[in-house]
Amino acid sequence: MAELGREFTTELAPIGSIMASSSQQPGIGVGTWAWGNQFLWGYEPERDDEALAATFRRCLEQGLHFFDTADSYGTGRLNGRSEALLGRFAMAAPAEERAQLCIATKLAPFPWRLGRQGYRRAFAASQERLQGQLRRVQLHWSTARYAPWQEGPLLDGLADLVRSRAVESLGVSNVGPQRLRQLHQRLADQGVPLRSLQVQLSLLAPQPVLAGGVAEVCRELNIELIAYSPLALGLLSRSNGQSKAGARPLTGTRRRLFQQLEPKVQTLRQQMAEISAGRPGGLAAVALNWCRAHGAMPIPGLRSCEQVNATAAALSWQLSGDERGSLDQLVGFAGAPRMPANPFQSA
Ligand SMILES: NC(=O)c1ccc[n+]([C@@H]2O[C@H](COP(=O)([O-])OP(=O)(O)OC[C@H]3O[C@@H](n4cnc5c(N)ncnc54)[C@H](OP(=O)(O)O)[C@@H]3O)[C@@H](O)[C@H]2O)c1
Repeated sequence: MAELGREFTTELAPIGSIMASSSQQPGIGVGTWAWGNQFLWGYEPERDDEALAATFRRCLEQGLHFFDTADSYGTGRLNGRSEALLGRFAMAAPAEERAQLCIATKLAPFPWRLGRQGYRRAFAASQERLQGQLRRVQLHWSTARYAPWQEGPLLDGLADLVRSRAVESLGVSNVGPQRLRQLHQRLADQGVPLRSLQVQLSLLAPQPVLAGGVAEVCRELNIELIAYSPLALGLLSRSNGQSKAGARPLTGTRRRLFQQLEPKVQTLRQQMAEISAGRPGGLAAVALNWCRAHGAMPIPGLRSCEQVNATAAALSWQLSGDERGSLDQLVGFAGAPRMPANPFQSA
């Protein structure tokens, strides 16, 4: 189906060792933006931390080992909370399970972080909050739109960390096809592989897997593609606008977004419900498996054991080619409902 004359691409992206599931498709990781965020996700430490610890343990039980976090996650005085919780939970896990973990953080290119040494202190602080469990470091967003000279030296500094074995691997986020090629080359010149790209990708944000999208460059350059907000902040996993019993009330920004998009996704949800019938994991599993069918590893935000179970259930089945095609048709045209784009995403 075309958007602005572009078709969906069909090949699968390469599968990295950490992300591989037992099938031919990428595995599933875990997003932790909500672990400390009050503004969008209504986090309260006293109420939530126990449930988050149980969520983490259930992830390990269910074989979900890739965790995405960021040094900017956590509101106000809770800044860094997501990393701190992950570090605490990881250290409480048995050593053999800890060894299987891949915790990836994202360092923000704030305007005061400049030059090759610009991330040094931030990296050390993240590693401390994560209690030494950090394995992949990612540039959180591209500065190409407003300070194109800033991100290169910061990335060089991250490459130094990989070369000195302070961290295993390196990725980028919110980078488009043109810039991705440049950053990949910059790192290749220093002998450091660019392992992953993280972008918004879901049935309501399919642009990366349309023809000419960044997924093609990932395949060509052997870069793992990671899909963030794969459930469109939870909009795709709710049935017909009804919040499930026990589900969190939506806070301001999320409620407004849901109100705006909800009426436009009824047909899509109906199609997803038909595909999910007789299979485990509900609508969430359909949304996640659509990302996998396009060669990306989704990292849904999880904060309850039920959500972990549904996510793990998605790994037990795959969309057929026809099912993927029917969803592609519903979301691929120019007027289809869309999530707001990340303003920092580069070309
Ligand atoms: N690189 C970047 O710039 C960037 C930007 C955004 C996100 N991310 C990363 O991507 C991760 C995921 O994205 P996201 O958290 O924005 O959104 P998401 O994964 O699209 O949606 C997460 C929400 O979906 C709901 N949910 C999860 N599993 C469900 C299930 N099985 N059934 C029903 N609802 C379910 C939960 O909402 P409730 O708990 O409210 O029910 C959850 O908080 C983040 O946590 C973060 O690590 C990266």
